[in-house]
This record gives sequence, structure tokens and C-alpha cells, in this order.
Amino acid sequence: MTPDLLEEGLRRREQVQKAPMPGRTESGGRAAGFGRIARAGEVDTTHGRILYLDDVRVSFDGFKAINGLSLDIAPGELRCIIGPNGAGKTTMMDIITGKTRPDSGTVFFGSTIDLLRYREADIAQLGIGRKFQKPTVFEALSVFENLELSLKTAKGVGAAVAARLNGEQRNRLAEVLVTIHLQDHVNQTAGTLSHGQKQWLEIGMLLTQEPKLLLLDEPVAGMTDEETERTAQLFLSLKGKHSLMVVEHDMNFIRTISEKVTVLHEGRVLAEGTLAQVQADERVIEVYLGR
Ligand SMILES: Nc1ncnc2c1ncn2[C@@H]1O[C@H](COP(=O)(O)OP(=O)(O)OP(=O)(O)O)[C@@H](O)[C@H]1O
Ligand SMILES: [Mg+2]
Repeated sequence: MTPDLLEEGLRRREQVQKAPMPGRTESGGRAAGFGRIARAGEVDTTHGRILYLDDVRVSFDGFKAINGLSLDIAPGELRCIIGPNGAGKTTMMDIITGKTRPDSGTVFFGSTIDLLRYREADIAQLGIGRKFQKPTVFEALSVFENLELSLKTAKGVGAAVAARLNGEQRNRLAEVLVTIHLQDHVNQTAGTLSHGQKQWLEIGMLLTQEPKLLLLDEPVAGMTDEETERTAQLFLSLKGKHSLMVVEHDMNFIRTISEKVTVLHEGRVLAEGTLAQVQADERVIEVYLGR
């Protein structure tokens, strides 16, 4: 990291700290409910967790999609989540990102930010980036323009969207282009990229916002073997700098990237451990791998 980037980071942090608290209701009622005040831009991971879920439950018309889900993720960890169709993996991500409100339970980002008090847009601002399965890039725009757009809407820039990127933003964009292997496609229209390249571009658009936690739902579905392998290397390069939660059905991919694997079944954790450990677990074989 260059000194310029460090300075920019400090400047942004100050800006964010001055900004009003996300999640505050018009009446101020929600903010008044805060026990410990978490400042935006800061995630307290001194307790060794960036994400903490405890006994989370949600029902849809009486169907318990999430049923006593508890798990936590360490800062910088790359956690893989597997489980049969309907296990609740996507619903879990919906809950973390504020798209779905659980009926009960605890969801914390770091040890001070109670995510259930925040709206979806504010959760993204806090530093949780989400990648849905289908690529959602702007097809008519170039690779560069897509990344530029995501940079301009990044936190800290806010209402004062500059007409042109500043030096630090250009540096960030260049860095992201290399990370996602699209440096030779800068001016290519996104619509003409391969499926895998579109997925990387969308990941790049998340990376420009420097998320602390990235949630990725079936990122390699539909990719070629080569694209899948490149994605594995990409994720391995991101861990440490970011925390990642990756949901995938592709076991070869999981084998390449995984340390700790969590198996979800019927809305809760069935098993956790290395891939070899969970694959040897009788309950896992029964409900999932044996099918
Ligand atoms: N908004 C909703 N309304 C009603 N039912 C829902 C809703 N969202 C999810 N479900 C149900 O909750 C269960 C869990 O779905 P979810 O999409 O989380 O599973 P998943 O583990 O992501 O599965 P897959 O591997 O197929 O993507 C499913 O039975 C699904 O039909
Ligand atoms: Mg799903």
C-alpha cells in the first residue's frame, strides 16, 4: 500500500466517522436503542469474530427455513458453506445482509454492530459485500466504466460524487483490475465478456468498495474448469485481507479453497470441520453427500 492510499484511507475513515449513524430512524428511535454505539467504518474484531450468528430463526408460512442457526467467522477467514438444496444457505445470506428479517436470534458484525438494527443499504455501507449467483454487471458499459461506477458509489464518497476519479481511486481501480484478471479487457463492453469474466467483474465492483466481509453465493456455477480454477486462486488471494463466506455445490472448488467447511441442513449447522472431516461424517453422508 502506498502512503497516498494510507492517507486516503485515514481521510475516508474520518469522513465516515463524522457521518450520521446508518440505521437511525427518522424519529431517532432506533439509535436511541443502541446499547454500545458502533461507529460506521469500524468493526470491532477483538473478540476474534467478524460475523456472529446465534440461534437465528425464520419461518415462511410456517416452514422453518432457518431453524436455530449459530455460527461465527474469524477475521480474514475464508469459510465455505455447503449443504443440500433448500438447506437455507441463501436465506442465511439474506438475513446477514438485511434482505430478510429473522423472527428471532442474534446477528452481529464484529462484537458491537447488531446487524438486525440496520437496513439493507446501510449494511452494505458497513462493509458487507454480497455477490448473488447471477452476474449483475452493466452490460452496455465497459469493464472500466462498471468499476468506475462502483467506486463512485463507494462509502466516503457519498453525495460528493466527483465527476472524475481522483488519483487514489484510479490506483484502486488499477489494483482491482489486476486482482480480477481483467487488466487486458479494460475497454471491452461488459456484455461481451465470458460468464466467468462477468462474475469476476462483479466481484471487482464489490472489491472497489473495500468490503470487510464478502458473501458469495455459488460464485463458480456455470464457469468453465479454467475459470473455476482462476476463481479459486482469486479467493485465496482475497482471504486475510477480507473475510469471505462462500456458498458452493462444486466440491472440487471447495477442496481447493477450503479450510473450515460448515454444512447446513434444514436451517441449521449439521457439521463443521475440514472438508475431509465433514465428508466422513455419517450425518452429512446421510443427508447430503450420499444423495
Ligand atoms: N421468501 C421466501 N418465501 C418462502 N419460502 C422461502 C423464501 N425464501 C426461501 N424459502 C424456502 O426456504 C428454504 C431454504 O431456501 P434457500 O434458498 O435458503 O436454500 P439454499 O440452501 O440456498 O438452496 P440452494 O442450494 O438450492 O440454493 C427453501 O425450502 C425455500 O423454498
Ligand atoms: Mg441458494
